[in-house]
Amino acid sequence: MSESRRYHVTTFGCQMNKADSERMAGILEAMGMQWEEDPLQADVVLYNTCSIRDSAEQKVYSYLGKQAKRKRKNPNLTLVVAGCVAQQEGEQLLRRVPELDLVMGPQYANQLESLLAQVDQGNQVVATDPVHIMEDITKPRRDSEVTAWVNVIYGCNERCTYCVVPGVRGLEQSRTPAAIRAEMVELGEQGYTEVTLLGQNIDAYGRDLPGITAEGRRENTLTDLLYTIHDVPGIERIRFATSHPRYFTERLVQACAELPKVCEHFHIPFQSGNNDVLKAMGRGYTREKYQRIIDTVRRYVPDASISADVIVAFPGETEAQFQDTLSLMEDIVFDMVNTAAYSPRPGTPAAEWANQLDEVTKQDRLQRINQLVNQQAEVRSRRYLGRTETVLVEAANPKDPTQVMGRTRGNRLTFFPGDIRELKGKIVPVTIQEIRAFSLTGVPCLVTA
Ligand code: SAH
Ligand code: SF4
Ligand code: F3S
Repeated sequence: MSESRRYHVTTFGCQMNKADSERMAGILEAMGMQWEEDPLQADVVLYNTCSIRDSAEQKVYSYLGKQAKRKRKNPNLTLVVAGCVAQQEGEQLLRRVPELDLVMGPQYANQLESLLAQVDQGNQVVATDPVHIMEDITKPRRDSEVTAWVNVIYGCNERCTYCVVPGVRGLEQSRTPAAIRAEMVELGEQGYTEVTLLGQNIDAYGRDLPGITAEGRRENTLTDLLYTIHDVPGIERIRFATSHPRYFTERLVQACAELPKVCEHFHIPFQSGNNDVLKAMGRGYTREKYQRIIDTVRRYVPDASISADVIVAFPGETEAQFQDTLSLMEDIVFDMVNTAAYSPRPGTPAAEWANQLDEVTKQDRLQRINQLVNQQAEVRSRRYLGRTETVLVEAANPKDPTQVMGRTRGNRLTFFPGDIRELKGKIVPVTIQEIRAFSLTGVPCLVTA
């Protein structure tokens, strides 16, 4: 046998893509390949792509240009485009970059090995037809030894008018509670401490699974799942994302308040603070409902961290409607908000509308909202000053090797002096002495028995 092939994976986009990349890397390793850090040295190059905004998509094309050039000199190079741009563009990608060997949608992540076998037979392969996502038998190559992603539901059945996700990720498919628990048990045995349950609309978990309780309630909701997996040995922290305000339930908040391993952090995108814009977005809730959800969260879990996503300059958004978004933020005061200017996406309704806003307005609103996001994050960080928070240590501080870094239960990045060899994966009480908008610094608090 010749020397083993070397592979490289670059990942764009959300946590779902990161989780898929870890699985695909696991498959490549099981096939005997070895990781290569430099994409220009690898024999198999895989780009796991994102098409949520145009900027994310354009990045891929510029990377692909370089690889196509390499391929013309080195026909043994295997070029793969996976993920959401692959699904969206399909065969058009082959026309645009004829050097590609394989174009595969997110639903095919588990099938990388058999797709590569078809490539080895000399085919150019496009795999984008909707399929049932099978339970994975290969082991992901996870980036972290401390925290792990666990998919619970794939796809999205919503129809937000700006969003490509339903088109590229397909219909909702929930994994069974038994499969999710089994994966977590194994993670616990391997020494993982934290698990983040993933779904684009995680509140939809279980809708496609059978089961009704004796009281006539649907079984297998996200709340039921939390109770099912909560006692997995070794896993000390459980997170979940992303919550959709349309389906968010009080029962879920109660479970979070009741179950000690579930962290006090809620990621609930609101997208806009104006009811007409929310309606045009097809979000299915009002500003008032969103506020009631946050009230409920704060009633049960007063110290909860609350983060969200928001889009500014949606088609037709007036200055007054944008002000409503700012005022919703003033009412709530978020720990963190991901902001984006609206980007028209192929195949989505809003992209066809005539009332698109200009680039100057987009950038202006983005800047103004980002200012508020930073301000609020700092205000929220202040509550930690002088407090002792438990921090799960993930890695050394890349800027200062005498420090380690990890996250509080509320998901604030925290630095403190310590040796990573000793502390990795440990949960350490840390007294917070310094705060910044998005991170904290402290000293370990020595607990005397
Ligand atoms: N499922 C989640 C989010 C999925 S996409 C939800 O329903 O909230 C992540 C974020 O990207 C979205 O919350 C939204 O804020 C942003 N986004 C999605 N489509 C976008 C578009 N066309 N332009 C700008 N931002 C977009
Ligand atoms: Fe996109 Fe809406 Fe589905 Fe979120 S809920 S992934 S924004 S369609
Ligand atoms: Fe991007 Fe696909 Fe995630 S479009 S945000 S990688 S679901």
